Amino acid sequence: MSTLTVREGNAAVRSIMFTPPIRLLDLLRGSGTPVHAPCGGMMRCNQCTVAISGKLSEPDAVESELIQPGSGIRYACRMTVLGDATLLAKNSPDQLVPIQIEGVTPAFTVSNSLIGLGVAVDIGTTTVAAYLYDMVSGERLAASSALNPQAPYGADVISRVQASMDGHAAALAESIGRCVSGLIAALLRANERDPAELRRLALTGNTAMLTLLCGLPTKPLSAMPFVAEHLFGEFRRPDSLRLPDTVEVYLPRCVGAYVGADITTAMLAGGLFVNGRVHGGAPLLMVDIGTNGEIALAANGVLTCCATAAGPAFEGAGISCGMLAEPGAIDRVDWIDGAFRFSTIGGAPARGVCGTGLVDAAAALLDAGILDESGYLDGGDFTFPGTDVTVTQKDVRALQLAKAAIRAGMLTLLGETGLTVGDVDTLVVAGGFGSKIRADSAERIGLLPKGFAAKARAIGNGAGMGAVMVLLNDDIRVQSEHIDCAVRLIELSSNPMFMDEYVEGMVFGE
Ligand code: FES
Repeated sequence: MSTLTVREGNAAVRSIMFTPPIRLLDLLRGSGTPVHAPCGGMMRCNQCTVAISGKLSEPDAVESELIQPGSGIRYACRMTVLGDATLLAKNSPDQLVPIQIEGVTPAFTVSNSLIGLGVAVDIGTTTVAAYLYDMVSGERLAASSALNPQAPYGADVISRVQASMDGHAAALAESIGRCVSGLIAALLRANERDPAELRRLALTGNTAMLTLLCGLPTKPLSAMPFVAEHLFGEFRRPDSLRLPDTVEVYLPRCVGAYVGADITTAMLAGGLFVNGRVHGGAPLLMVDIGTNGEIALAANGVLTCCATAAGPAFEGAGISCGMLAEPGAIDRVDWIDGAFRFSTIGGAPARGVCGTGLVDAAAALLDAGILDESGYLDGGDFTFPGTDVTVTQKDVRALQLAKAAIRAGMLTLLGETGLTVGDVDTLVVAGGFGSKIRADSAERIGLLPKGFAAKARAIGNGAGMGAVMVLLNDDIRVQSEHIDCAVRLIELSSNPMFMDEYVEGMVFGE
């Protein structure tokens, strides 16, 4: 047996016993220690750097090129721990993160049959948000959030599904179950409430997140024709949640493999599905911009939905100086009077750039004439004045792919229903990233088609807010179980209109 000692500064915060040799990424995953590994250990993203010393394997040829000799920095998926070692922690395991957890809902009543406390949870691919409610009064008592601890298995749904098929299904279920249970326990503790008062959970998330939580087979989600065996819309108790039997657990209805319960609940919060019917007024388009862009259109009595893989650029992953929206992230950029002006989250020294900052930066670089419509960065990599934070040509390409996917998804849904941008009354923007994004910058770079910035209405964490509606109103919960009957799914990967729009959408500009 050997020991991996995890330190925060000078303090040892954790000792992990293990049998060497073992790949460091596997050791960290198995012990629930946070590690940033967007590609899930496939040696593609080069972002799994750690500061480590001790009995370690020698760097191979590739890692030798990536690291500075003697720096103590290594790549977690490229190295093996051979004996006792010490790791410098980047994050504490229970770290709470400042994510967008607020949001709005249409007015609704609380069912009078409910008693005790309830928690609505939104299991996002990157973050998990939980909301504690008094189910009698409908009053929110507290809310909290955490990073999704499945991140060491990859930043996106596809990597997690692959990891589960590679033998990590139990670990993935266990890690998210522990996270959700921990958030709930912390909310109850912070509000000095007895855990015995907890009566019901409503847990939303995309189809893969709910499937992983329940430990169900993920293979059908991994390949064409992408069929989900379980669409939920039921009370179901995942084994990985450590909760007493007195707590009911409800998982809202998914529509398909890539249009999950998070979209169902976001459509409730966004007013696309009201009183068990499709919104009946002028067309409403909803978009949740993230690693997976999910898009829904309520028009002519039908909900037309699609999902498009944008990649993790909007969450700062796969970007050379990319980071989550944390203190020190450049989040706002302008080109004013011939100069770049930018700000960071919390006013902290610039450490990197988050998704909103990247969209803003591209818009400002277009305004400055440094970036052209094709995505060419004149003069090479751009460095924010007075910082070490850069936007590289490769970053611009990643942004181009991401924004083209979202834009093409929106235009394809409209085209499939015979509508145009001008026909849409309101663009409902859901999700943490979408709520922070500046609509004019998004339109400037062509992420949003021209004409949408003025119609945009951000609803914050729509998925989480819809889960609250399902938690507190039994009629809404039951109605939502039939939402898939009103949905027409558009599969984009084989859609010729999407292909054309995607290619056109690569161009920067309105
Ligand atoms: S390169 Fe190691 S996790 Fe991506």
